[in-house]
Amino acid sequence: MLRDRFAGSARISFTAHYTGYVWHRHHWSPKGFDTGLGHLAYLGLAPINRMTRQLYGFDLETLLLQRHALIDHLLTGIAGEVGPIQVLELAAGLSPRGYRLLQSPQLDIRQYVEVDLPEMAARKRRLIDRLPGRHPRILTADLFPQGGGNPLEQLSLGQFDSNLPLVCISEGLINYFDLDAVQRLWRQIAALTLSFPRVDYLSDLFEQPPNRPGHRLMTLGRSLLSLAVRGRVHLHFENDEQAQSALLANGFGRAALLDPATAGPIEQMPASDAPSLVRVIHAQA
Ligand SMILES: C[S@@+](CC[C@H](N)C(=O)[O-])C[C@H]1O[C@@H](n2cnc3c(N)ncnc32)[C@H](O)[C@@H]1O
Repeated sequence: MLRDRFAGSARISFTAHYTGYVWHRHHWSPKGFDTGLGHLAYLGLAPINRMTRQLYGFDLETLLLQRHALIDHLLTGIAGEVGPIQVLELAAGLSPRGYRLLQSPQLDIRQYVEVDLPEMAARKRRLIDRLPGRHPRILTADLFPQGGGNPLEQLSLGQFDSNLPLVCISEGLINYFDLDAVQRLWRQIAALTLSFPRVDYLSDLFEQPPNRPGHRLMTLGRSLLSLAVRGRVHLHFENDEQAQSALLANGFGRAALLDPATAGPIEQMPASDAPSLVRVIHAQA
């Protein structure tokens, strides 16, 4: 049963290949982060992207790049505000963020730790090992262990300096798990404030606003993605207020839900003609 559940989580790894391919296509990541599987997924989704672009003014690729550009923007903003930081990127997949930001002379990132399931972490290590410069540390953990427990406590206490602020990122993770599991993870992230002077949390979040433009598209997108990952995709909240209340109820002192499409001019952020269906959470414990 444990193996089944783990296999369930591993199916989600498939989506990291698509994202990895998009990163590479837009020159956000080095060669090798684009896998054959990612290319295949990209080609398979191209007709859907074309259709949503024509009908709704945006596509999956733009949604993806917009939220990542906003997460980068918020992360660099926090670094500018507080000075030296440490970063824990959960379910990092083939994200080049850690590697890319560690090469920036403007940012004082003392430690960058990425976490993923064993197979994805091993693949990422192989890719990163060939690259010059500073590398993120890549660790293995199941963030939703069957028997409970707090993987974040173990990860953070062993890897980081407790005198420096910590930024925790999760992208492309939250909507694959049910509300109980997500709230447990949020409580664990918020509890890191007991160990660090400041904890910021950045994440994407898909909501499902009822009877509003985009509702039918979200339903279609959810069904397609559920099919692709052979598991349920969860849209836990109907609006920003519900999501914000849940973050506050689970240990965060402040929580904002940001719409990437209206977040203002941001470097590398592609424009779209419609409000985004995705939000970026910036919460502080
Ligand atoms: C959509 S991908 C993430 C993409 C990545 N954030 C990026 O920016 O390219 C989802 C990731 O979650 C990881 N994942 C799924 N279940 C997990 C779990 N229980 N614990 C840790 N990682 C998990 C998958 O292996 C996969 O790499």
